[in-house]
Amino acid sequence: MDIPEKSGLFMGRTIAVVNDLSIDEQIYLYEKTKEIKSAIRNRKSLSHFQINDSRVSTYIVFLEDSTRTRESFKSAALFHNTRLSIMDAQHSSFKKMESYADTFKMLCGYNEYSLFIVRTKLEGVCRWLEKALSEYAERNHLPKPAFINGGDGKHEHPTQEFLDEYTFYETKKWDRSSIHIALVGDLYHGRTVHTKADGLKFFKEVQVDLISPEELAMPDHYIEKMKSAGFSVKLFHSIEEYLKSGRIADIWYFTRLQLERMGEDVREKSGRLRAAVTFHEKFLPLLPEGTRFYHPLPRHREYPTLPVFLDSTPLNGWEEQALNGYFTRIIEIGMLGGKLGKDFTGKHPVVPEYPDDFIVEVEPVNKPKMDYKVGIKPISEGIVIDHIGKGDDAETIWDHIYKIRRILDLNTTSSHAVFQSRKTDLMKGIISLPSIDSRDFEERKIKKLAAIAPGCTLNFIEKHRVVRKLRLNTPHRVYNFDEIGCTNQDCISNPVHNENTQTEFFRSGENTFICKYCEKPHRFKDIWTI
Ligand code: CP
Repeated sequence: MDIPEKSGLFMGRTIAVVNDLSIDEQIYLYEKTKEIKSAIRNRKSLSHFQINDSRVSTYIVFLEDSTRTRESFKSAALFHNTRLSIMDAQHSSFKKMESYADTFKMLCGYNEYSLFIVRTKLEGVCRWLEKALSEYAERNHLPKPAFINGGDGKHEHPTQEFLDEYTFYETKKWDRSSIHIALVGDLYHGRTVHTKADGLKFFKEVQVDLISPEELAMPDHYIEKMKSAGFSVKLFHSIEEYLKSGRIADIWYFTRLQLERMGEDVREKSGRLRAAVTFHEKFLPLLPEGTRFYHPLPRHREYPTLPVFLDSTPLNGWEEQALNGYFTRIIEIGMLGGKLGKDFTGKHPVVPEYPDDFIVEVEPVNKPKMDYKVGIKPISEGIVIDHIGKGDDAETIWDHIYKIRRILDLNTTSSHAVFQSRKTDLMKGIISLPSIDSRDFEERKIKKLAAIAPGCTLNFIEKHRVVRKLRLNTPHRVYNFDEIGCTNQDCISNPVHNENTQTEFFRSGENTFICKYCEKPHRFKDIWTI
């Protein structure tokens, strides 16, 4: 194996979320997993899968409890004969308030090529390390390290998802034309079910039945994500209600109630909540033939939602699922460690583009203007921001006007108003800025205004005439502004964690942005910190 970068197609890659592997790459992972599983089970030669190179170091950095993920990755790294280091929260500089970026930079510098597998309570850590360590590696002429997210808070657990999807694919005898799956349990806190919104895209036609009491329901944005991926989604409050509905899935995926992540108000109801998603013997005759149950494990020792009497029945798919964690992780290390991938011929993930098409030039109209009823006079020079918050109520639009002034530092001689449009009867806001030279309102400010007030129009006035008019729509990406920040306290980019991580936001729907790191959705007004 050549250590210099690019000797393997997957070296230096980061798997922070499921979408970091394209569908073609996932197919490759599952095909190789099938091969290694067969080779191990049939005691065939394994050397062509193994890295066998002590210049490759695997670091398992787990700052949150784990049994399956940590141990299966450890066994997979030992399979490959790489160097192996295991770090946890008790025995590392994290306890001494060292930043994530600093710790990983040092570790990366001690090896010729490093592959990090990281579990944290904080969300978005691998995405951040990918950025910080790429820059560090470039500065110091080191090969770019690889990162695998072993689970980050409530956000994602991509390698669990890959082993789940591999297991479903195997169960369906390598047919990925369709899947009908029931997700059962704590769908609010469980990252393994959140990840399904992307992971199930591996199948071409997807039906998802969500079974959870209201308190533990799947967050709306994941349901929206599933629907926009073309999944058919149905909601049920208990297994009992679901079984009466008629069309029952043949694949059920259970998750435990994550009591450690719940507030006291929800924890108090845990008995009732658990009862709604616990399987009982009386339900057995209502299942379609060939049904299989899965669970990422662990089950609760005292109150398992999948009772132990099911262990010896054909419903038990979770034991094979857990075993598949070892095989898929051997392949993941093999790919990112540079051994596997040279025979990959499919497509890599598409690198998104962020065009400036949200700024639309429109023909200026120069009809004689009446004074607005609220008293704003047409101006002879300067700029006018119009159509602010169109359709909102007056109070919301006032808030919006003050927010625009604060963020764009427009507290200068000027006027503003909220009024009702004569044409549409909708309320809208206007800011009139005669003291601003239109030539000073440069591109960067226009982009910022689009992100604060999508839907507004920007008029440049000279000598009583509108000389330029722009309609500003929601940008595809908002970045490089000091005044933006993620509101998720558990996100690595939140200033409370002192990582000096400046987030970016990507448009994910009409006027909705997701944080680059934790992917929490924000309304466009909520990305601003001032
Ligand atoms: N399924 C899973 O991630 O288990 P661990 O928390 O034990 O790693």
